[in-house]
Amino acid sequence: MTSKPTVLVARAIFPEVVDRLRSHFEVEDNPKDIIYTPEQLAQRLQGKQGALTTGSERVDGALLDANPQLRVVSNMAVGYNNFDVPVCTERGVLLTNTPDVLTETTADFGFALMMAAARRMAESEHFLRRGEWTRWSYDMFTGSDVHGATLGILGMGRIGQAIARRGALGFGMRVIYHNRQRLDPSLEAPLRAQYVDKATLMREADHLVLVLPYSASSHHAIGASELALMKPTATLTNVARGGIVDDAALAQALRERRIAAAALDVFEGEPKVHPDLLKVPNVVLTPHIASATVATRKAMANLAADNLIAALTGGQPPSPINPEVLRK
Ligand code: GLV
Repeated sequence: MTSKPTVLVARAIFPEVVDRLRSHFEVEDNPKDIIYTPEQLAQRLQGKQGALTTGSERVDGALLDANPQLRVVSNMAVGYNNFDVPVCTERGVLLTNTPDVLTETTADFGFALMMAAARRMAESEHFLRRGEWTRWSYDMFTGSDVHGATLGILGMGRIGQAIARRGALGFGMRVIYHNRQRLDPSLEAPLRAQYVDKATLMREADHLVLVLPYSASSHHAIGASELALMKPTATLTNVARGGIVDDAALAQALRERRIAAAALDVFEGEPKVHPDLLKVPNVVLTPHIASATVATRKAMANLAADNLIAALTGGQPPSPINPEVLRK
């Protein structure tokens, strides 16, 4: 009898999904949810053919040098900037992610954050909890409307389109977007979405939402010069990745009220948050939870498991990042 492949589940995930993996593999899991250093991760992976990771595990040349036996790494996330894709592809390591299952959930949260920023929900809630609410006044926490406003989307992939749909169809918003590629007109039409250059997007958006992947080319895509183009009444929401926004520049723009408000679910160097962001009142801060509903996190974990199982048992993984490895 051939022995089962061996896999590492690098972070704590739903126990029933670990059980599913155990019916196919020898599994080392991490129920205490220790975040491994790169050296510990390399050590834990010794002799293993597969890994189930999250955004906190970096998979690069150094890790593969220490683990040339590794065949597949399955990320429980749609984003995969924790992977060095070219190096993995060159070494024949299959990478997978969890698209689609989180699209609507993440879009819900992005929209909610945008509304929270526009209508100053976090800021006013903190005021109430501090006991400072003593009377009504005509201009107390006046924000800006969402309905009928211009929604700007940077990064018009699946999640960007789902946010645009909410804005256009639910809130009568005008949708403008910028993306590496213009969408097919058949996708633009139902959203009445208009493709614009990045500077126009910055200038015209009342509410700008970032949903683009992080890479060297999107590092600090929103910095001081982009923020300077925005309307003083505008809001900025980031549900993409930390590092796309220059957090120090954003904190300064918020402090000086050069834009009205921001809402951030992701941060440069998270879980650390830039101390200046913690000091400005006009920003809503959440701890990278845009996909965090029970149903969606279960769907993500199961899809990550499906990918790992298929890849190591001769099947077709549902969502490969580098499918060229399968053809080799
Ligand atoms: C979450 O950030 C993800 O990429 O799934």
